[in-house]
Amino acid sequence: MQFNNFDIDAFLQDHWQQKPKLFRNAWSDWQNPVSPDELAGLACEEHVESRLVAQTAENLAVENGPIPETRFGDLGRENWTLLVQAVDHYIPEVAALIEPFRFIPNWRIDDVMVSFASDGGGVGAHYDQYDVFLVQGSGKRRWQVGEMCNESTELLEHDDLRLLANFEASEEWVLEPGDMLYVPPGISHNGVAVGDDCMTYSIGFRAPSKSDLIGYWADDLLAEMNDDDRYRDAGLKPQTNPGEMSGKAIDRLHAMITEKMADREAFANWFGKYNSTPKYPDVDWRPEEEMMATDMRALIESGHKLMRNPASRFSYIKQAPDSVSLFADGKQLECTGDAANLAQKICAQGHPQIGKAAIASDNAAALVTALYNQGSLFFESA
Ligand code: SIN
Ligand code: CO
Repeated sequence: MQFNNFDIDAFLQDHWQQKPKLFRNAWSDWQNPVSPDELAGLACEEHVESRLVAQTAENLAVENGPIPETRFGDLGRENWTLLVQAVDHYIPEVAALIEPFRFIPNWRIDDVMVSFASDGGGVGAHYDQYDVFLVQGSGKRRWQVGEMCNESTELLEHDDLRLLANFEASEEWVLEPGDMLYVPPGISHNGVAVGDDCMTYSIGFRAPSKSDLIGYWADDLLAEMNDDDRYRDAGLKPQTNPGEMSGKAIDRLHAMITEKMADREAFANWFGKYNSTPKYPDVDWRPEEEMMATDMRALIESGHKLMRNPASRFSYIKQAPDSVSLFADGKQLECTGDAANLAQKICAQGHPQIGKAAIASDNAAALVTALYNQGSLFFESA
């Protein structure tokens, strides 16, 4: 799948993280990649995150998945929508929708959520924390966008949805198959299906909050800290008012924290692992049997092709001209020479061409084997 007339530089300069942008006929040859039945099938599965949102006489009611198969028969012809998260993890044609967005770094990508709505279905006016591209897959949807929201924006009382109490649209469009709307974080929006068979693909990007960064990094730091590492004040001078906490004491206390937090290398290694942690860490993608590097070599030499697990998150940090730290599924793998080149190639492409030459060195073969054994690489099925 490729874009039609998408000016990446202009988009990044004028719209990304700033304002909505409508792309009519965004794809060169749009084909809806998932059928409603396939989507409903995924929503019935235990390990897949899904929601059914239906308009009742009182409000929008949310049912969390797995959705019993029989439930779909009870739904009327109007005013409900089914939303399934991370469909890219299960359907390669949906994972392929992310590829044209690779001008945005891997570490910012979240997932592709897919919704199916009957006439009038939608999740109500809201805002999200993330950048999202809303691609119309089939049918039509009226999208309205409004103002920039924040924590102080008034919400309706609702147990499951963060609905805006006062939504005023400043622009609206009806999207048809292949059209796409970009909505930056914080911008209020409301999408309502116009007619049947409305499918929308939300390609979502994530950005860590300051509180997550501080909180989760501090949790990891705490795990390796020593209780004996304490404030010390040998050479203490008598002070006139014992109630004063002196500037010098505060400086020392503050330094105890900032010295730790200022360790950029430790932060980078932690962030690489944290950020590459799978979206659903409880789903075990590891192969039933571990493979040895010699068997891996034999399979690749006989023409078997490896691909990235679409549920895996791959990024790297350059450490030296010929070495990188590769982060995949919460693990850090140090790579030098051939292995470093291979790591970068794997990060660049969902279907990296890994042939005999790429794994000639033991380091490179060991890297590919480790990634396979931890469930981050698969063999493509023929
Ligand atoms: C959808 O209904 O498919 C998209 C929901 C959203 O606005 O995030
Ligand atoms: Co939204």
